[in-house]
Amino acid sequence: MSGTLVSEADPAWPVPAMPPRPARPLSMLELLRTVPTNSLAVCDEPLFDELVVKRHYLAQPVCFVSDPAGVRQILIDKFDNYPRVSSIRRLFETDLRTGTLASEGETWRRHRRIATPTIDHRSLRPDVPDLVAIAEGMADGLPVGEAPVDIERWVGGLATLLWNRVVTGGDPAGLPILRWLSKVPHKPRAIDLVPVPAWLGRRLVRHRRDPALAELDRQLHAMIAARKAPGYDGPQDLLYRLAHMRDRGDGQPLPDGEVRDEAASLIAGGAASVRALTWIWYLLALHPQVEARFHAELDAVLGGRVPTPEDLPKLVYTRRVLDEVMRLYPPIPAILRQAAAGDVICGHRIRRGTIVAVLPWVIHRHRRLWPEPDRFDPDRFLEENSAGRPKLAYLPFAAGPRVCVGASFALTQLLTTIAVLGRRFRFRLASTAPVVPFGAISLQPKGGLPVRVERR
Ligand code: HEM
Repeated sequence: MSGTLVSEADPAWPVPAMPPRPARPLSMLELLRTVPTNSLAVCDEPLFDELVVKRHYLAQPVCFVSDPAGVRQILIDKFDNYPRVSSIRRLFETDLRTGTLASEGETWRRHRRIATPTIDHRSLRPDVPDLVAIAEGMADGLPVGEAPVDIERWVGGLATLLWNRVVTGGDPAGLPILRWLSKVPHKPRAIDLVPVPAWLGRRLVRHRRDPALAELDRQLHAMIAARKAPGYDGPQDLLYRLAHMRDRGDGQPLPDGEVRDEAASLIAGGAASVRALTWIWYLLALHPQVEARFHAELDAVLGGRVPTPEDLPKLVYTRRVLDEVMRLYPPIPAILRQAAAGDVICGHRIRRGTIVAVLPWVIHRHRRLWPEPDRFDPDRFLEENSAGRPKLAYLPFAAGPRVCVGASFALTQLLTTIAVLGRRFRFRLASTAPVVPFGAISLQPKGGLPVRVERR
């Protein structure tokens, strides 16, 4: 499909880091040992060859679905039959309560109707110049030279500042809230991962008496109340928009408690962007020929100045690089659902209660969907190289009614930040130690990513 793919031995196209990939399915004991250390290391070779794979883990049936037709059935056509796995939803419920990331049914629908327009790219466009200014300011302090910088940590700090500008208009009191919520779910217990009946699940939701959570609630409520007070003349930030947005169904806004939950949910969801912002520098450092084209495009489009919203659609190669980064390292590597009623997926009978695993980590590297799937090649996303590839072979933001609500914001934020940094710097890997992609809820390099920063 892609014109630039080359033979296995070409040193210009090294295979980027992967977690261990077992040749055969792990035993239950191996699985229990592996999941807590790296959930991606349980994905065995057959998953990358077969489009539908059925397994049993103890008494729990699990079906891995990579066939785009099956993915469509789960996420789009029969969406109501495949709610989130209750044990995973419980993990988020402690902190996010009725927010979209944690809710189902009518509560989720209502929150989703209200949240979507508040984070729409049109409402964010006016923020772009400020986001650029914040990123430029922080880039001024990036230590250039031999001393290694953990770029994951550094871009995490930058992304928090940018996100805080969008959510609270840049109020410093927002920063600890964002940091806390970026770590949701906090400290999962073993019992949280065990599928249990709904009545027991409700009892297991932790009503934590955590002073940090109580303080977060107090502050978020105060910020929301300020934005609803008569005479408020502060920024019309994301919190403001959420507090005032009315449901297009019944014309009512969310009650204050649910504004808090939705704000917490959106803030927590926003943390995923940091992952793409880390992996891009790793992949560019490994592939100087791609990096050179990326720099050439930035120089041609920006001509040495800072990016503006009008520049973003012109960064077409940069967008292909970003798409390919999220193919190889999907920030959210697993989308898990549970069949509410029996079904048939691509000819395979699915029993009620089966966990269906739609894994971007596997689908994006599947041998039946991508040629040379483990190689980094942004030109796969050229139109002529995408013809014939099923749309759902690529789903970093999921698909269907529960598609990532922040996708358009994430793309704007990522392109802006990548342009700001790529215009001024190049990054070189500072360590020869292997980089290990590590899967928890999101996909990150284990122990960070040390780089040396060079001025361009
Ligand atoms: C590169 C960045 C991002 C990626 C790859 C990403 C990916 C995803 C994926 C795969 C899902 C579906 C999860 C599932 O259904 O199991 C999701 C849902 C969600 N994302 Fe994102 N996300 C990103 C950025 C953001 C941002 C910036 C926000 C906040 C504005 C956000 C907020 C959410 C929310 C609230 C949901 C739940 C939506 C629902 O269930 O209706 N995400 N995201």
